[in-house]
Amino acid sequence: MTRVDTLFTGRVYYEGEFKEACIGVEDGIISFIGKEANAPSYDEKIDFKGLFIIPGLIDIHAHLRGVRLKHKEDFFTGTCAAAAGGFTLVLDMPNTDPPTNSRLRMMEKVEEAETQIIVDTGFYFGRPEEASEAEKLVKTRAIGLKLYPEDYSKKVQPSLVEIVNIVKRSNRKIVFHPEDISIIEQKRKAYPEMLRGVEKHSFIRPLEAELSALDVFYKSFGTSAHATHLTSLESIMKARVNGFTYDVSVNHLTLTDNDLLKLGGICKVNPPLRSPEEKQRLVESLNNGMITILTTDHAPHTLEEKNLTLYDEIPSGIPCFETAFPAILDMFHKTGLNIHAAIKAFTRGPAEFLGDRRLGAVTEGNLANLTVFDLKEEWKVRPEEFYTKAKYSPFAGRVLKGRVKATVIRGVVVFQDGEIKVQRGFGKIYGIGGINRSD
Ligand code: DOR
Ligand code: ZN
Repeated sequence: MTRVDTLFTGRVYYEGEFKEACIGVEDGIISFIGKEANAPSYDEKIDFKGLFIIPGLIDIHAHLRGVRLKHKEDFFTGTCAAAAGGFTLVLDMPNTDPPTNSRLRMMEKVEEAETQIIVDTGFYFGRPEEASEAEKLVKTRAIGLKLYPEDYSKKVQPSLVEIVNIVKRSNRKIVFHPEDISIIEQKRKAYPEMLRGVEKHSFIRPLEAELSALDVFYKSFGTSAHATHLTSLESIMKARVNGFTYDVSVNHLTLTDNDLLKLGGICKVNPPLRSPEEKQRLVESLNNGMITILTTDHAPHTLEEKNLTLYDEIPSGIPCFETAFPAILDMFHKTGLNIHAAIKAFTRGPAEFLGDRRLGAVTEGNLANLTVFDLKEEWKVRPEEFYTKAKYSPFAGRVLKGRVKATVIRGVVVFQDGEIKVQRGFGKIYGIGGINRSD
């Protein structure tokens, strides 16, 4: 056997269980897994003794901002936060300023990101103005099209159907945010006066709007789409009937509308947090294998914006790269959440969504992307120590049991014991066909 660059040791998750093992890495690829006694010689050995090593976490739904929203997050801070949360690959959403809805804007965004990212990063594009622009966008390496409620839930123009068909024909993803704007507008009318605070958020954006959107989308565009951040078992059932793939965000799995009432604006997110009973049904759905993809929907805003008083002015979104996986580990300890199901939903599930066989499993021949965690370490969440620019969290002050200790991308330790270990630009642009340069 040839010599490897690096040998990692720890309790490795492979072949469906945790085993004490070594991982040999050559040129960023896993070339050996097995017992230390059989391991090849190495240049460097990194001992993760007593720690768990799983395939690198993948998040297919995040907001890294940048461009004109750098005050909320930039590609460096966002991907440092991702690495600190154990993520090795993240996919960025297009609802930026300006929206990433043309080839030119996609190229500008990729150019800005390329020099700053420290984890591998892919990009979705938003609804382009014209079908001809969609033709150009599907020639880039972008992952696909993200559609927001405003894009499709009123009268659907023929040009949008054409755009969706172009994206489908190119084998790119169609991801949509299911909430029916007409229902939300109707509900908002119940409060013609100025609304203060966020108590009415769940009333204004009810589950009914999510369920309706899953049907509206199906009727307008047919199947072959991915419904993101579903918030209820009923939505999961409907998505399945309509033939959509789907994910659930960690926010809806770990927080409820009680947190919104308690913590206010920082828990305002679209779709809204639901009841504890609904959350419990999501946990059971994860446990029984109905949820195969989890996302963070990391959505940073400034604390000043989150502290605004008028309901309509408080932006929606929860920053959570650095708490998402630990919150899941904590739920494993405290509520019996199925840890194997959760790990798969952040690794194998997203890898299958991307159709990328070199990701999502610790297997010889795969990219050496690894997430290393301590299952038992208890730590207090201190948002002031976060890498994200959004230094607040629904978990602030809470003690979580389970902590990310290291993140390895293509065999290189990018994060360890609280510190970022690589330079800006270490991350690669991820696109259709895998990592490497854009276009
Ligand atoms: O809560 C949300 N925040 N929902 C969205 O759809 C957008 C996101 C954001 O960009 O902040
Ligand atoms: Zn989002």
